Amino acid sequence: MDQILITGNGPLRGEVSIAGAKNAALPIIAASLLSAEPLQISNIPGVRDIDTALQLLELLGCNVDRDDTDLVIDSSKVDSVRAPYELVKTMRGSILLLGPLLARFGEADVSLPGGCAIGSRPVNEHISGLQAMGAEVEIEAGYIKAKATRLQGANFAFDVPSVTATENLMMAATLAEGTTVLENCAMEPEIGDLAILLRAMGASIEGAGGSTITIQGRAKLHGASHRVPPDRIETGTFLVAAAATRGDVRVVNTAPDFLHHVLGKLEQAGARLEIGPDWIHLDTAGKRCQAVNVTTAPYPAFPTDMQAQFMALNAVAEGSATVVENIFENRFMHVAELQRMGADIELQGHTAIVRGRERLQGAQVMATDLRASASLIIAALAADGDTTVERVYHLDRGYANIDRKLADLGAIIRRI
Ligand code: EPU
Repeated sequence: MDQILITGNGPLRGEVSIAGAKNAALPIIAASLLSAEPLQISNIPGVRDIDTALQLLELLGCNVDRDDTDLVIDSSKVDSVRAPYELVKTMRGSILLLGPLLARFGEADVSLPGGCAIGSRPVNEHISGLQAMGAEVEIEAGYIKAKATRLQGANFAFDVPSVTATENLMMAATLAEGTTVLENCAMEPEIGDLAILLRAMGASIEGAGGSTITIQGRAKLHGASHRVPPDRIETGTFLVAAAATRGDVRVVNTAPDFLHHVLGKLEQAGARLEIGPDWIHLDTAGKRCQAVNVTTAPYPAFPTDMQAQFMALNAVAEGSATVVENIFENRFMHVAELQRMGADIELQGHTAIVRGRERLQGAQVMATDLRASASLIIAALAADGDTTVERVYHLDRGYANIDRKLADLGAIIRRI
């Protein structure tokens, strides 16, 4: 199993280019099941979760033609509606196949994703929404078995705004009979982006990106082409790594518009930011950052996917701060690992109190989930001595070439 070895050596400096967003690409890939005509997708990130999603599509009978960041998916010959546990358990985003399969083929057989390092992550909202649209859903031997001759438009209000449930129901509704109105929807930018693609495929959708989405169902959708937007979380991760190492980094090929909260927190921490249409330049002028309070909440508030990285920044910042996690009940697995590196963090329920230390010490640590891995990498870059991060397959699920990109910014990093 791969490990990453980092020797802390001070500021990151230089320029880094951001890949396409994993969490935007996954629903786009699932949407290819909605039409028998091919979908062309560009700016696909080279990450493990995308490999898993494409493996799943191939199992269903899709033809997948991938050339680096370009992808063509042809789902005209789908001959299975079953997404097996072996693949679904490695990537919860697989639940995104449920809505499109059911809407186009009248049937879906998708494994329940099971437990996850960051929390229980139920899928009740996905199921209730499809039931409201007339689907019959049973849970049998760990699989969600859903059937519907044709989904019917419905009014459905989410109890909690879920990103993938909003995406699933929006996709399902594009092929339903009649009008669907979804309320209390998640408003993450990936949902607005999916709506752009679905409209290009012939769907009628209004309000995506806001809390109420209205979809007029169509008999069928057609092929389209789409460019995946830049990854806002990868962008934020590199900016925090620059801030934690007292560095000076320009992040390019990104989309600053979707990062207001994160950028505001970095400025509050004392970093100087310059922002262009598709780039962000962060400079700390060699100074140590101030610790900043963060509280995660659904978009447009501070994203849970940036919580672990700010925990690492606070651990080496001046002063103390609280980090409150409101989305996932167990997303503090990185705390014990950061403590192994000397971080002063006290946990009280879903609040972490972080007292910054001048330096952390390198140690052997273990990645527990995708964003936790990123926080350990950031801490290691800012620490004295050597850190070995084990189980880096978590990191590879969502960051394309992170070791090479960090090495280009001057980090001493190698994969062993
Ligand atoms: N929830 C329910 N019932 C449901 C669905 C969700 O109670 O049926 C709850 C969850 O337990 C959680 C909250 O709703 O407390 C929000 O979870 P959400 O469903 O929005 O999360 P998700 O759709 O499973 C996506 C991202 C995650 C990201 C979250 C929150 C994808 C593929 N995944 O997950 O990304 O953390 O939204 O923004 O888009 C990551 O990239 O590292 C990652 C975990």
